[in-house]
Amino acid sequence: MPSTSALSRLQSAGLYALELEAVSRHFGALVALADINLTVKAGERRAVLGSNGAGKTTLFNAITGDFPPTTGRVRLFGEDVTDLPVHERIRRGLRRTYQISLLFGGLSVIDNIYLACRGVSRGRFSLRRPRKDDSGMEAAETLLSAVHLDNVRDTPVGDLSHGQQRQLEIALALAGAPRLILFDEPAAGLSPTERTELVEILQALPDHIGFIIIEHDMDVALRVSESVTMMHNGRIFKEGTPEEIENDPEVQELYLGHGHG
Ligand SMILES: Nc1ncnc2c1ncn2[C@@H]1O[C@H](COP(=O)(O)OP(=O)(O)O)[C@@H](O)[C@H]1O
Ligand SMILES: [Mg+2]
Repeated sequence: MPSTSALSRLQSAGLYALELEAVSRHFGALVALADINLTVKAGERRAVLGSNGAGKTTLFNAITGDFPPTTGRVRLFGEDVTDLPVHERIRRGLRRTYQISLLFGGLSVIDNIYLACRGVSRGRFSLRRPRKDDSGMEAAETLLSAVHLDNVRDTPVGDLSHGQQRQLEIALALAGAPRLILFDEPAAGLSPTERTELVEILQALPDHIGFIIIEHDMDVALRVSESVTMMHNGRIFKEGTPEEIENDPEVQELYLGHGHG
């Protein structure tokens, strides 16, 4: 994990966390992504906005390799990963959360985080018994606090509220040494109080961890990001600071004016 000073050196050296070059993704005749050029600096926090079907989740799939691009190149931290499988991208510090929850329902909160810290992949079980002096357990306790779940440490995941489950997913994405995290609508279905908590959690992430957040809630998106990409019909429609995007008449017409959400 690079320190903050190492990060500023990387940034001044022009290192990008992510570079997409002419990325497209077709599903049969459907063009879900068309000629996407996008760069995200190391440590940058970027929001991706756009109506349903705009191509936002497909963009994440192209970045992670879950659905590789039909054409174009994907670079992570300067390295071309277009032809690498998902796990090789994870090894390079890429993480994601999904629109739909993928948790181990029967296990406790701390055990879920512990397994993620131990690098146990989803769907595979370890018979190893967590011990307090274990460095994986130490990391798990730190992440537990980072996502504000100390009070439900030993609760089975199936008994958590929807909002708490989303917080746990963030903890899982933070396990290991993430450098770029893709959050797919983390605020979906959250109460106003849970949204506030989510914003606090995201704002408190260490500086060297960059993220891209797909978010329908404009208020959440603009509070946690320093740059915004608007998508429409599989293309980038506009990029700017949160202020520029919020005050852009075309954005207001396209996005805010049509009962979005
Ligand atoms: N696996 C898939 N197979 C076929 N079509 C897909 C697939 N994934 C996404 N699409 C289509 O691509 C378009 C963009 O979808 P998506 O990226 O999920 O949009 P968003 O996340 O912005 O709502 C939609 O028309 C959707 O139906
Ligand atoms: Mg989506």
